[in-house]
Amino acid sequence: MDDTLRVAKELSHLLTGGNIVLLEGNLGSGKTTLVKNICKNYGIENATSPSFAIVNEYYGTHKIFHFDFYRIKKLKNFMILVLMNI
Ligand SMILES: Nc1ncnc2c1ncn2[C@@H]1O[C@H](COP(=O)(O)OP(=O)(O)OP(=O)(O)O)[C@@H](O)[C@H]1O
Ligand SMILES: [Mg+2]
Repeated sequence: MDDTLRVAKELSHLLTGGNIVLLEGNLGSGKTTLVKNICKNYGIENATSPSFAIVNEYYGTHKIFHFDFYRIKKLKNFMILVLMNI
């Protein structure tokens, strides 16, 4: 967990607004845990997995969108999802 916290902290210094971070990893590899810890650094304590909802939107010191594209199979649906949310 130490490494996850450290990476979350380092990323939080770099993400100042308008940034997009892409996370790729096996099921259960810790993607959502990393995002939860990044969110905490922006004052968001209740971040959850968007695996079911596909997108979660949070309002802390920054506005954060957390997408999970695992179930999105078509480029068209990906585009619609992103354009409707951002
Ligand atoms: N650095 C870590 N140290 C210890 N446990 C961890 C760490 N990162 C994640 N975990 C644990 O591993 C499990 C899976 O983590 P997580 O849900 O973040 O993975 P994920 O990549 O988002 O999974 P999925 O692909 O299913 O969305 C959770 O129970 C979480 O608490
Ligand atoms: Mg996840």
